[in-house]
Amino acid sequence: LHRKPLAGRRILITAGPTYEAIDPVRGITNRSSGRQGYAIAREAALRGAAVTLISGPVSLPVPFGVTRISVDSASAMRDEVLKRTSGADAFISVAAVSDWRPEHVSDQKIKKDGKAVTLSLTENPDILSEVGHLSAGRPAVVIGFAAETENIISYASKKLRAKAADLIIANDAAHALGSEDNDAVFVTESGAEPLGPGPKSRVAEAILDRLASLLA
Ligand code: C5P
Repeated sequence: LHRKPLAGRRILITAGPTYEAIDPVRGITNRSSGRQGYAIAREAALRGAAVTLISGPVSLPVPFGVTRISVDSASAMRDEVLKRTSGADAFISVAAVSDWRPEHVSDQKIKKDGKAVTLSLTENPDILSEVGHLSAGRPAVVIGFAAETENIISYASKKLRAKAADLIIANDAAHALGSEDNDAVFVTESGAEPLGPGPKSRVAEAILDRLASLLA
């Protein structure tokens, strides 16, 4: 009966790492395969949503029916997201955004001279927090991730509030990164619900089940 439960919905998703240039050949980045975000995009499209995937550099094919916009830096990712928030029913922030970027980007390749080099970093915008706090055009449902190495649930609850998200998917960084699997916990204002270990595709299904009920 409800073969396409997300038909007519517009979903904006970020995925992958960001890449912050130091000079034309070097940069800093985060560990992220993009697999979880791509799995969510694929599943959302299968369920009938119009999906725009703002992706950092990954080597994954575009899921069928998904519109991908490729970016490098966190600033570029932020700009592409904020252009599309009004009109989106949901924002799912899966990207492993670099928290910092080099303060100065050199136009030319920096040459080594036998001395130590100091890199000065400034903080990047927090895209999830900006979208969560939008006063106009905030998507009805805002979902984020929290990869933690300890105190998983309490850090995730803090993030839920700090970023004004409706749902945080918390997981153990050691387990999730680069892996096919995930061991996630849903954290909302009403508490924590462990999903149990499973493939990233299963986590994607659980997130979209929840999203459909939140939008209903
Ligand atoms: O604060 P932390 O990086 O652990 O939060 C993770 C969540 O916030 C993820 O959903 C991630 O996509 C999002 N995030 C973001 N912009 C940042 C940092 C994190 O959107 N600069």
